[in-house]
Amino acid sequence: MGLLDGKVAVVTGAGGGLGRCYALALAEHGARLVVNDLGGAVDGTGSGSAMADSVVEEIRKAGGEAAANYDTVSTMEGGAAIVQTAVDAFGRLDIVVNNAGILRDKTLRKMDESMWDDVIAVHLKGAFAATQAAARRMVEQAEGGRIINTTSVSGLIGNFGQSNYGAAKCGIVGFTRVVALELQRYGITVNAIAPTAVTRMTEDIPSTPREFVPELVSPMVVFLASDLAKDVTGRVFGVHGPRICEYRYVMTPGVAKAEGLWTPEEISEKFADITRG
Ligand code: NAI
Repeated sequence: MGLLDGKVAVVTGAGGGLGRCYALALAEHGARLVVNDLGGAVDGTGSGSAMADSVVEEIRKAGGEAAANYDTVSTMEGGAAIVQTAVDAFGRLDIVVNNAGILRDKTLRKMDESMWDDVIAVHLKGAFAATQAAARRMVEQAEGGRIINTTSVSGLIGNFGQSNYGAAKCGIVGFTRVVALELQRYGITVNAIAPTAVTRMTEDIPSTPREFVPELVSPMVVFLASDLAKDVTGRVFGVHGPRICEYRYVMTPGVAKAEGLWTPEEISEKFADITRG
């Protein structure tokens, strides 16, 4: 018995890198897979079917069931078509891993509009488009579901030259927390992970340890996709190589002024107390 026997999973951007590893791991635990990938370069240019096809082939060779989808996640039609592929191939949908992503790094002053729009479209709108189509299907099925989104240290903490990517990835955290509240009553959990792994996206970044292979991230995705995590929702986990942690917001106790409005000078005077944890 696999943890995910009988389940149908979609992984977006599963033609390589982390998504490929997630798809293989989910299949290994019994899920039937839709392997979505647009098949382009790291910066989002180009497209093709070879990447998704090769992962479908790998899953089949290992004895699993998989179907390919080559639509972009960044349009409502694409999101709907990805979900439809699962329904057409396997009759249902239980798990979505929103993983597809691109990079167009530039400092704020040099970034042009298309760099901003394209990155927001793939990451943030892509998560919305696929999740909306999936949630509609899951609510109709009335058997719960699992949505796993992908954020990043860039959005949670910040990273030089990635205002577009960081904004999209932090937006995904807000999206995750709100949609988790909305879908809780249907038994659909919505969580986000911030991975760190060496892939084509990060191979040029010297601070990513070479031993952080993408396979290290997959067990957390399988856990969140399974019944073991049925009560885990609206949360953000870091999976940095072998280390798994949770990201939480911190609100300091703060200081309330007894009467009247604060003056800017009073705020300056009390600043250390206001920000003390
Ligand atoms: P990757 O470039 O190997 O994988 C991204 C995949 O998404 C590619 O296969 C690409 O073809 C696909 N894709 C791109 N645009 C698409 C679109 N519009 N529709 C469908 N598929 C599309 O990179 P990696 O590292 O595996 O990234 C996976 C996810 O993890 C991304 O969301 C990335 O931002 C995130 N991430 C990765 C980190 C890392 O350390 N590798 C760190 C933090 C976040």
